[in-house]
Amino acid sequence: MLRDATVFEDEHLPREIVGRNSQMNEVTDALAPVEDGVRAENCFLFGPSGAGKTTVARAAVRELRREVLDVPTAYVNCWKDYTRSSVLERAANTLADAAVPKNAPARELIDTLQDGLDSPGVVILDEVDQLQDADVLYDLHSVPGLAWICIANREVDLLARLDERVHSRISVGYRVQFDRYTVDTVTEILDRRTAQGLEPGAVERGTLERIAELVDGDARQAITALRVAARKSEREGLSTIPPRLVDDAVLDAEAEVRRKTISKLNDHQRVLYECVEEHGPLIQKALYDRYQRAHPDPITLRALRKNHLPKLEHYNLIETERGGEGKTYRLASRTG
Ligand SMILES: Nc1ncnc2c1ncn2[C@@H]1O[C@H](COP(=O)(O)OP(=O)(O)O)[C@@H](O)[C@H]1O
Ligand SMILES: [Mg+2]
Repeated sequence: MLRDATVFEDEHLPREIVGRNSQMNEVTDALAPVEDGVRAENCFLFGPSGAGKTTVARAAVRELRREVLDVPTAYVNCWKDYTRSSVLERAANTLADAAVPKNAPARELIDTLQDGLDSPGVVILDEVDQLQDADVLYDLHSVPGLAWICIANREVDLLARLDERVHSRISVGYRVQFDRYTVDTVTEILDRRTAQGLEPGAVERGTLERIAELVDGDARQAITALRVAARKSEREGLSTIPPRLVDDAVLDAEAEVRRKTISKLNDHQRVLYECVEEHGPLIQKALYDRYQRAHPDPITLRALRKNHLPKLEHYNLIETERGGEGKTYRLASRTG
């Protein structure tokens, strides 16, 4: 039944981007100056998980590289590389194609970038609200010719991290909003994936629609569910995915996406999550008490609220409710 399982992987960049024409146009417009040898416009992409932000950013860069061969480009996931030096290091490594010494100071990394970048370049900073210190956006902007595409869930969370200095010195030409996909668009995304990844006739359109209805506009959940359903059917020796498998496949897919997300959490986020998992629902003060006891090097509640707690919500790991005693945190009943 599965012909090519790689097309269901999260990193797979689809040939065609479905239903995101206006977002694609905005990002390619932002990058267009590079075609004339000029620095691109910086842009921000915002929206919920599974809405196609990373895909659109990568597809826009792919398009640019078709126009201008050898544009220096880099992709940095700030969830993994969240310090100033690791972002600069990765950017210097990729864009300037320079082997930078371990633990080089930021200034040296910026110089390396400046020296090594001989034509306009683009860096995608994904999950940028995970940065410890958003000043690195300014560092990168200070490199002549370099522009960035920053991706975050919500504009407010990102802006809260940018201080005035960064604000006033960087112009952001484009702010592109991604809303949850409609059921029709998710169905269409699944249909294209099916054509590439499954044997012909392996699934009926109605089954894809059913998956799309259950995932709340999240293409990642939908694609994972389709793969899970195909595997389940394969194990049963079937050549078509029966509709009865869909609901279970969606639940399994949610659990799988959740597991992957948990494995990406930093230590503050992980401890918070584990406190809620073990002791929730918890009011904010109780959660903070538990976190302080469980974490070897706790940060302030303010710092947690600014970044880590919202991230757990955006990734649908925990839910909050506002009551008389303030916010209450509990495990999310479903991902979505
Ligand atoms: N418009 C689209 N067309 C085709 N596939 C898409 C589209 N949007 C998202 N996907 C697929 O859905 C998954 C999640 O998309 P992604 O861009 O990673 O979402 P986000 O970065 O917003 O969380 C990926 O596997 C991606 O290939
Ligand atoms: Mg993404």
